[in-house]
Formats: sequence, C-alpha cells, structure tokens
Amino acid sequence: MKDQINITYGLSAIKDLKAVLDSKQYSSVFILVDNNTKKHCLKGFLEYSSIIPTAVLTMPAGEENKNLTSCQSLWEELSAEGADRNSVLINLGGGVVTDLGGFVACTFKRGIDFYNIPTSLLAMVDASVGGKTGIDLGALKNQIGIIQEPQGVIIAAEWLKTLVHEELRSGFAEMLKHGLIANPDYWNTLKTISDLSAHNLEGFIKPSVAEKTKVVLEDPYEKGLRKILNFGHTLGHAIESYYLTSPDKARLLHGEAVAIGMVLEAYLATKCSGLRAATANEIKHTFKSFYPIITISSEDQKAIIDLLRHDKKNKAGRINFVLLKAIGKPDIDVEVPQELFAEAFAFYQSA
Ligand SMILES: NC(=O)c1ccc[n+]([C@@H]2O[C@H](COP(=O)([O-])OP(=O)(O)OC[C@H]3O[C@@H](n4cnc5c(N)ncnc54)[C@H](O)[C@@H]3O)[C@@H](O)[C@H]2O)c1
Ligand SMILES: [Zn+2]
Repeated sequence: MKDQINITYGLSAIKDLKAVLDSKQYSSVFILVDNNTKKHCLKGFLEYSSIIPTAVLTMPAGEENKNLTSCQSLWEELSAEGADRNSVLINLGGGVVTDLGGFVACTFKRGIDFYNIPTSLLAMVDASVGGKTGIDLGALKNQIGIIQEPQGVIIAAEWLKTLVHEELRSGFAEMLKHGLIANPDYWNTLKTISDLSAHNLEGFIKPSVAEKTKVVLEDPYEKGLRKILNFGHTLGHAIESYYLTSPDKARLLHGEAVAIGMVLEAYLATKCSGLRAATANEIKHTFKSFYPIITISSEDQKAIIDLLRHDKKNKAGRINFVLLKAIGKPDIDVEVPQELFAEAFAFYQSA
C-alpha cells in the first residue's frame, strides 16, 4: 500500500487521464461500465478524455451481479480481446463496478493496473477509495476480495446529474458516517442540509474523501483504526444481505441499510460504550428525517441476526462492533451481548 492515494478531481483530471495512460504505454485499454453508466456516463467519459478504448466491457447493474459469474464473463472477455499483463482497466461506475472491476483487474493475469472513475455519490466518497476490491458470495457481502489501491481515482461531480435521488441519499449515509466517527462539526453541518440534491452535496465530497483517506492511510489493512469505517455496517450489511435475498421484501440500497445499522448501533453504544442516550436519539432522529422507516418484524430480526454470524469482523465466533463513545469518538472491537439486539430494533422502530 502506498503512503499516498492518487485522487484527483474534476473534468480537467479526466481530460488529463489520456496523457497519464499514454505515459505508461499500456498495451490495451479497457473500460468497464454497467448498463446504467454505459447509458449515462460512457459517452461523456469518451468525449472528455479522448481515450479510444480497445473494448468497452459491460456488466449488468446492481448488487445482485457483484458475483463470480460477472467476474468470469469479464475475465473471458478480457482474454478474448487479447488483454495481457500490461493492459489497464478503467472502472466507470458506482461501487459495484469499482469493487468488482478492481477485483477483476487484481486477479486477471495475477494483476493488471486499474483506475476508478466513480459515478455514484457512494462510490465517490467511499467505495472507490481505500483499495478494498471484491465480490459477494451468495447472500454474504464482500466475502471474496483483495486490498489493492487503484493507480488513480478521478472524482467528478458531473456524473451525479443523472443519479436518481435514492442513490444520492444512499451515498449521503456514508458522509454522515464520516461525521459520526471522526468529525462532530462535519456531522452538525451535514445534518442541517434540507434538500439532498447533487448541487447541495457536491461541496462535501472532498471533505468526506479526506476523512476516509486519513483513516485508510494510517491503517490500510484494517488492523485497528480502519475498523471505524465499519460503524453501522455490522448490522447494516446483515440487513442489506437479508433484504437482497428476500424477493418478497422491499429493496434496500447499501446506504439505506447502513443508515438503519447506524441507528441500531447508536443504541448498542448507549449500553456498551457510554454513548449518551440524548446523542443516540439525535442520531436516530437525523437518520429518520432523511431515510424511509421500514418495519422489521421479529422474524426478520432473527434472520438478520443469523447473518451477523458471518461478518468478516467476527473473531473466534464473537461478533465485534464498532460503536461510539461520543460523536467523533469511535470505540472499536466491542463485543455486544446478543440480548441487546432486540432492544436496538425496538429503539429504531420507536418514535
Ligand atoms: N470498497 C469499499 O471500500 C466500499 C465502500 C462502500 C461501499 N462499497 C460497495 O459499493 C457498492 C455500493 O455502491 P453504489 O451505491 O455506488 O452501487 P451501484 O454501483 O450499484 O450504483 C448504484 C446504481 O446507480 C447506477 N449509477 C451509477 N452511477 C450513475 C450515474 N452517474 N447516473 C445514473 N446511474 C448511475 C448504477 O448503475 C446502479 O444502478 C456496494 O457493493 C458496497 O459493498 C465498497
Ligand atoms: Zn458502506
């Protein structure tokens, strides 16, 4: 892992990418999109960058395609198109494309260079930065993967114009998380935004990336500090997995699931990390003001808790959480008594 992450901003950085690629003398250039970013972002990207790719690879959009089947098709396509160890892959898309494309690049011929051009807010402030690449294994999120920083990340808010509101709001959850785990002033600023529009959120991309980068550079392999980025994700991932694999249930986006996870874990923090009850309430009301409230029945809760047992952060069968002692003061490796889970769900559902 490098001691710097190469992140540049704006359309000017996209314009500069061709010269960067030329200087590296790649044997061939591939672009990975999903069907949405193919429709909304590819034309602009080719125009701004003047890059002429060897081939554009397309994967079906959506978390349900972040799996080995998609990887296999892409490896085969790369191979058929004559990609070699000196080829490069440009991932143009949301977190699914950057996570999966990164993994495909890291494993093809034992690893080729890749660049991330995040097009969703979530990928800009979170997924495309920090070197985690990977895919899901059945219902279990991000079980297979590699930590490898891309050669470069280029963040241009331009793409957000075509992103639907729900996806924008999903990315905003990670930004609120950055405030909660590291920066109370940032949390206080974000929570007062009244209209989650691309225009209103654009200016907060850089500060969020800065919070994430600071943590990742200090602890790239998640031995300690980096765990704080998992706040809300232990329960959030289990909720996301559960809803993803329950066809009769509403779909929950990553950020929507993590938003619920942060409320549940705020409650657990009042019991296990000394978070003030008033602060947990503030967190709950803030998330409830931005996100739809869903009803999680006791059967759903049981299934979600079953999924928790597969969390990668578990050690020797114990479920470890990142909680908060206060806003901006995370508490890592907290073991939570399981009987508190039902109380946490009741807290989330209460007014
Ligand atoms: N690697 C990490 O550190 C990390 C961190 C956070 C999240 N993630 C992963 O990121 C994924 C979630 O990312 P996401 O929310 O970007 O999901 P996503 O890639 O599925 O994108 C969301 C939707 O928006 C569409 N889209 C993307 N950009 C668009 C644009 N500009 N215009 C119109 N539509 C567009 C996509 O096609 C998709 O339908 C999850 O798989 C999660 O595990 C990874
Ligand atoms: Zn997340």
